[in-house]
Amino acid sequence: MNWAVTTYDSAFGYVSAHGAPLVDLLDPQPGERIIDLGCGTGTFAAEIAERGAEVLGIDGSPEMLAQAAAQHPGLSFVVGDAHDFTTTDPFDAVASNAALHWMTRDPDAVIARVHAALRPGGRFVGELGGAGNCAELIVAMQTAWRVFGLGEPELPWYFPSPAEYAKRLEDGGFTLRLLEHADRPSRMTEGPNGAADWVSAYAPRALADVPPELVEPLLARINDLAAPALRRESGWVADYVRLRFAAVRKPDRAGPMPDGPPLAGGPGLGTDPGL
Ligand SMILES: C[S@@+](CC[C@H](N)C(=O)[O-])C[C@H]1O[C@@H](n2cnc3c(N)ncnc32)[C@H](O)[C@@H]1O
Repeated sequence: MNWAVTTYDSAFGYVSAHGAPLVDLLDPQPGERIIDLGCGTGTFAAEIAERGAEVLGIDGSPEMLAQAAAQHPGLSFVVGDAHDFTTTDPFDAVASNAALHWMTRDPDAVIARVHAALRPGGRFVGELGGAGNCAELIVAMQTAWRVFGLGEPELPWYFPSPAEYAKRLEDGGFTLRLLEHADRPSRMTEGPNGAADWVSAYAPRALADVPPELVEPLLARINDLAAPALRRESGWVADYVRLRFAAVRKPDRAGPMPDGPPLAGGPGLGTDPGL
C-alpha cells in the first residue's frame, strides 16, 4: 500500500510510541545483530540501536525507508518483503512492531523467513494487532459502507487470536516464551478527526474504491457511528487490542543416531538416576 509518509510520524506517532515496552522485552545486547521487520520510519530500529545492537531495518515501502534513512543516517535499512526476504549471515533476533498484521499474504511464510534469518536460539519478539483489534472502528467502517450502498470494504489486516498465532509460531519452529493479548485503548492525539482520520490513514485502498463525491459524507458517517464508543470529552480513543510475543528459534534437529551395536549396559543403566 502507499503510506502517507509525511503524515505518518507526526499524525500517528502513537503507533511508534507503543513500541517502547517492546524494546525491553527484546532486551538487545551490545553487539547483537537484530532485524527490525516492517521498520517503517525507523523509530523502533533506533531504540534498538541505542542499546548498542547492530540493527538492520527491513520494510516493503521505499518511501518509508527514505524517511527512515533521512532521520537515522547511522542505521542500515533495506527494502524487502517480509514474505520472502533472505539474509546471508544469521541474526541474533528479529523484532517487529505494529507491522506483522499488515503482512497478510501468508503469515506462515513470514514466520518461515524469520526462522531462516535467525541462528538457533535466536529471538523473535513482536507486537501486532490481535483478534478484536479496532473492532469498533471496523464495525463503523463496515456499517457506513453498507449505508452508502458500497458493499463490504476491503480490510487489509490480519488480527490473529493468541491461540492461532501461538500455533503458527510453534509449527514454524519456535518455542513460545511469552504471549499477551491485551486491550490497549490509545489516544488518537494527533488524528483530531478521529475515526475518519484513522480510516484515511490506514485503509486508503478501501477509500480509493469509493466514488470521490461520497468520500467526505462517508467519513462523516463513520465518525457519527464510532463516536459513542470511541469519543471521550478529552478526544478520540482507538480501541486497540495488541498481541505481544517473545519466541525462541528451536535448536536444529540433531541428525539420526548412527547405526551400530546396541549399547552395552553400564553400571548406571537401568537404575534409578536419583533425580
Ligand atoms: C504501521 S507501520 C509500523 C512501522 C514501525 N514498525 C513502527 O513501529 O512505527 C507498518 C509497516 O509495515 C510495513 N509493511 C507492511 N507489509 C510489509 C511487508 N509485506 N513486508 C515488509 N514490510 C511491510 C509497511 O511498509 C509499514 O512501514
